[in-house]
Amino acid sequence: MSQQFDVAVIGGGPGGYVAAIRAAQLGFKTVCIDKGVNKAGDAPALGGTCLNVGCIPSKALLQSSEHFHAAQHDFAEHGITVGTPKMDVAKMIARKDAIVTKLTGGIAFLFKKNKVESIHGEGSLKGKNGDLWQIEVSGNVIEAKSVIIATGSNPRPLPNVAVDNKTVLDNVGALNLLDVPKKLGLIGSGVIGLEMGSVWNRLGSSVTVLEALPQFMPMADGQVAKEALKTFTAQGLDIQLGVKIEAVENKGKSVTVKYSVNGENKSETFDKLIVAIGRVPNTQGLNADAVGLKINERGFIEVDDECRTNLPNVWAIGDVVRGPMLAHKASEEGVAVAERIAGQKPHVNLGVIPAVVYTTPEMAWVGKTEEQLKEAGVAYRKGQSGFAANGRALGMGQASGFVKMLVDDKTDRILGVHIIGPMASELISEAVVAMEFSASGEDIARIIHAHPTLSEAIHEAALACDKRALHG
Ligand code: FAD
Ligand code: NAI
Repeated sequence: MSQQFDVAVIGGGPGGYVAAIRAAQLGFKTVCIDKGVNKAGDAPALGGTCLNVGCIPSKALLQSSEHFHAAQHDFAEHGITVGTPKMDVAKMIARKDAIVTKLTGGIAFLFKKNKVESIHGEGSLKGKNGDLWQIEVSGNVIEAKSVIIATGSNPRPLPNVAVDNKTVLDNVGALNLLDVPKKLGLIGSGVIGLEMGSVWNRLGSSVTVLEALPQFMPMADGQVAKEALKTFTAQGLDIQLGVKIEAVENKGKSVTVKYSVNGENKSETFDKLIVAIGRVPNTQGLNADAVGLKINERGFIEVDDECRTNLPNVWAIGDVVRGPMLAHKASEEGVAVAERIAGQKPHVNLGVIPAVVYTTPEMAWVGKTEEQLKEAGVAYRKGQSGFAANGRALGMGQASGFVKMLVDDKTDRILGVHIIGPMASELISEAVVAMEFSASGEDIARIIHAHPTLSEAIHEAALACDKRALHG
């Protein structure tokens, strides 16, 4: 007889592994099926894109490259002389790999602790046996009352461009370079483009970013995007907008990109080229058609607001469904689905999901942008506070950027907060909490913020919404 479970999770990324742990905590007999392997390809590795080739390794490299850059450019101002710093790229990559191994191993430990069964292999929906779903994994069949699909996403391919992860790279190759390329090309100025571009730019690459859209970072608030473009350009990133890629010729040791901008033909040869033009949901191998799992025209598994698919007791979460492709969104959906299976009534507020770009300065935002409010005809007030007058930011030597708060003109409810500046990734949490509690600008203005901290810029922005900023 097949092994039977209450809950089977397909995919062990931040959506799937978190869903499995929560389901087990709720008393369900749970299995997580994941096909991920480690960098060497010789052992299973849980954690999905995020832990293996996404969030975690990219942040490790961002940190290393930031230190290198600071040693070269910032230490002197503090009176520190270190000579000419040297970068051992292989060591930086090994440090990153060690962090990945520690965290992916940590999930295996958490599975044991929570009694989640872990099966390595590709999970494929076979059909039903009465009320139970049958899932085939590596030739074996298991059965489960409920299935949570968390199969994530893959890099969006650029037509006619083959990624070999030697010269033409996706996120996997971009995180594993062993030398600093002299000339690095990037197709796509999205989050990966900016983060990876920053890493290699700080380490000495000459970086060119080729972006199809005429507008830089359209997903961000316009003022943040404008400040970011100015700052990244000053840092040395050559960001070209409105680009049409005509051809990519991989010559092994170099790659030539032929493209046009406003009808003018251009050509650039790079040592390495990173293609980061978005990600596509991954439903391969699930046997979706045969079991009638509905997939929309953009390739996402169709779900309702609560992550239910069209099939009974089959749920889907994370990058494989609508919404931002972010690890924290995937995890929250995983928790919520496990709790719904247990009859609870959790809620994931898709309107209050923080977004962060881990460049220098960092960018982070939550809620509506000014452009979105204008388009929706919402009357709002705004308050802004620059880090230039913030004592802590000056002490850190990172006093560029600002916090902008947007509040409803009548009710004063916070509608959006947009930050470009030091530790924006951490600062945004205050705004997220405030918005989840439906706070007003005045609520934040009346809350004591420690001095001297970066969070005082949020306080000042809230005060500015009521035209009573004290330091602005
Ligand atoms: P995934 O993490 O993609 O996991 C899916 C898992 O399912 C994989 O292990 C896959 O092998 C497995 N799988 C697929 N099909 C099957 C099958 N049929 N059977 C068994 N297993 C299967 N997000 C952030 O929030 N913050 C960041 O800083 C951030 N940085 C990023 C940096 C990069 C370079 C990239 C590429 C992404 C980054 N992301 C970041 C996005 C984040 O990685 C994803 O949003 C997140 O991993 C999605 O989680 P998931 O569980 O839905 O899918
Ligand atoms: P993205 O969607 O952020 O950006 C892709 C960019 O490529 C867009 O600006 C798009 O206009 C451009 N583009 C598309 N087709 C193009 C073409 N043919 N030529 C030139 N440019 C083209 O996607 P990205 O950077 O690949 O990242 C994928 C996802 O991973 C992100 O959307 C995000 O959800 C997640 N991620 C999150 C991070 C974070 O939270 N800090 C970090 C990295 C990735």
